[in-house]
Amino acid sequence: MIRKAVIPAAGLGTRFLPATKSMPKEMLPIIDIPTIQYVVQEAVDSGIEDILIISGKGKRAIEDHFDRNFELEARLEEKEDQAWHTEMRRLADMANIHFVRQKEANGLGDAIYYARHHVGDEPFAVLLGDTIMDSVIPVTQQLMDTYEQYGGSVIAVEEVPNDKVNRYGIVGGTSLSDTIMELSTLIEKPALGTAPSNLAIAGRYILTPDIFQCIEQTPKGKGGEIQLTDSMLLLLRRENIYAHRIEGQRHDIGNKLDFLKTTVEFALKRKEFAEPFRKFLEEILAK
Ligand code: UTP
Repeated sequence: MIRKAVIPAAGLGTRFLPATKSMPKEMLPIIDIPTIQYVVQEAVDSGIEDILIISGKGKRAIEDHFDRNFELEARLEEKEDQAWHTEMRRLADMANIHFVRQKEANGLGDAIYYARHHVGDEPFAVLLGDTIMDSVIPVTQQLMDTYEQYGGSVIAVEEVPNDKVNRYGIVGGTSLSDTIMELSTLIEKPALGTAPSNLAIAGRYILTPDIFQCIEQTPKGKGGEIQLTDSMLLLLRRENIYAHRIEGQRHDIGNKLDFLKTTVEFALKRKEFAEPFRKFLEEILAK
């Protein structure tokens, strides 16, 4: 049973400068909803109500977003704007959200290590704070189901083109079904032609608590950071790890082009924008 989720959100967001100089990339909105709100919603929709956000320098806006804002609530009440008043209260109450600060952005493995006291001795979900999943069944729920069936750590993966494997963490192993693979290896950003598959790690995990010991033993890897993929390779020596090919689409908001595409895609799905926005796109594309 997975009761806790960890959302790392302490990275520097260097791929999204200058916006991320003073603003957390996890607060970049897709239309009007900050990225991390989608991520928290996915955890809640998967039945998880205890959420630890790994925060860091310059990330106060994330804490404020999930806190009460009495001045705003009073103003909305005055305006008799019941819908937004209710929504603001819902946001502050959507889960039990806790925060811990990563002192330096030393990589994803290091960020997760900060969760050890909160998580204790139970398996937990990890959802990257800059990655939105668009799916019918929440992706974290999909991984939880696989965890229930197989009992080891589970990594979400998706297929990527063979000429792009060098941008991702890649897994290799034996297929147990159309969606599940038992891993024999993982590698962060393999050189082209050396990857064990074209299945890329997709920003969602179920991890057993043994990962914390493995992180302690992980030397600094690419970019001088503690890479979670390296720690998972150590975990793989101790226990089985499974990859779950997700049903759904991943959006990496920390990448400018992905952010743009996601905004357009989500706008075309929103009732109030679909018609006029499609028309606008058709007009500018016809020019
Ligand atoms: P990324 O590697 O995409 O984040 O990590 P980054 O380091 O901020 O990105 P760039 O390359 O500089 O643009 C995925 C998630 O892990 C968090 C990030 O905030 C993001 O949500 N993260 C990353 C941490 O919490 N701590 C870190 O040290 C690194």
